[in-house]
Amino acid sequence: MQTAQSLTSMSGLPRLEARMLLEMVLCKPREWLLAHDTDPIAPEAAAQFLTLAAQRRQGTPVAHLVGHREFMGHRLSVSAEVLIPRPETELLVEMALQSLPDGAGLSLLDLGTGSGAVAISVALARPTVRVVATDLSETALALAQKNAQQLEARVQFSQGSWYEALPAEGRFDVIVSNPPYIAHSDPHLSRGDLRFEPVGALTDGADGLSALRHIIAGASQHLIAGGWLWLEHGYAQGEEVAHLLLRAGFNAVQTKQDLAGLPRITGGSL
Ligand SMILES: C[S@@+](CC[C@H](N)C(=O)[O-])C[C@H]1O[C@@H](n2cnc3c(N)ncnc32)[C@H](O)[C@@H]1O
Repeated sequence: MQTAQSLTSMSGLPRLEARMLLEMVLCKPREWLLAHDTDPIAPEAAAQFLTLAAQRRQGTPVAHLVGHREFMGHRLSVSAEVLIPRPETELLVEMALQSLPDGAGLSLLDLGTGSGAVAISVALARPTVRVVATDLSETALALAQKNAQQLEARVQFSQGSWYEALPAEGRFDVIVSNPPYIAHSDPHLSRGDLRFEPVGALTDGADGLSALRHIIAGASQHLIAGGWLWLEHGYAQGEEVAHLLLRAGFNAVQTKQDLAGLPRITGGSL
């Protein structure tokens, strides 16, 4: 009879990934697995685990196999229709929260919300703030809506391309976005976990900066005076994004580094 311990070593996966798959197959939390790693595991469960482990070895992201990913301490459902939320995007949420004291009448716009990770995290941390989230993809929005319901986050969703998703009137205190910023010629698009994610969430189909340019160019029509725009970008795009913000009339332009020490989030105020 196999055990969690023997299955983990048979799987050929990093221990953490094997544990995540075992948790799902056995419907048990991490603590249980750690305390029972030499208990016998039913043959059907062992077979199911080994099938998932083979899929993982062939490249399917763990988040797709287990159907969820943790972000800012919240469990978000994910699918092949949305970007898997990344740890570095938590910095985008932190910058938004720093620019947004909890207060009735304040508002935030999340452009390209995907799974809803950023909008939902802000809505849960600032329950009195009006949070609006948009995406071009209807399937992404449906999943984001489901995540918001499950986590009891109050977010208003709207479908469309960038600012076109919004009604004409109304300005926001903060706008955030993690748009597709990988250049279409970047070889990373055909490597690793990226192969399994929606191409429209990863690349702008151009030089990687076209969505960022569009969002910056339109921001002054959708932000209040003194409002903040925070953008996630590639590690080599910080300087260019800062230039674009300065040229669009933003003040206090600054770039923040992610946990790996790479320039990742740039923002400024109008
Ligand atoms: C990098 S993903 C970010 C998802 C999510 N905000 C996150 O950080 O995990 C970019 C998102 O922008 C959306 N997107 C791409 N083009 C768009 C457009 N023209 N208008 C609105 N959203 C768009 C994609 O569907 C995708 O959900």
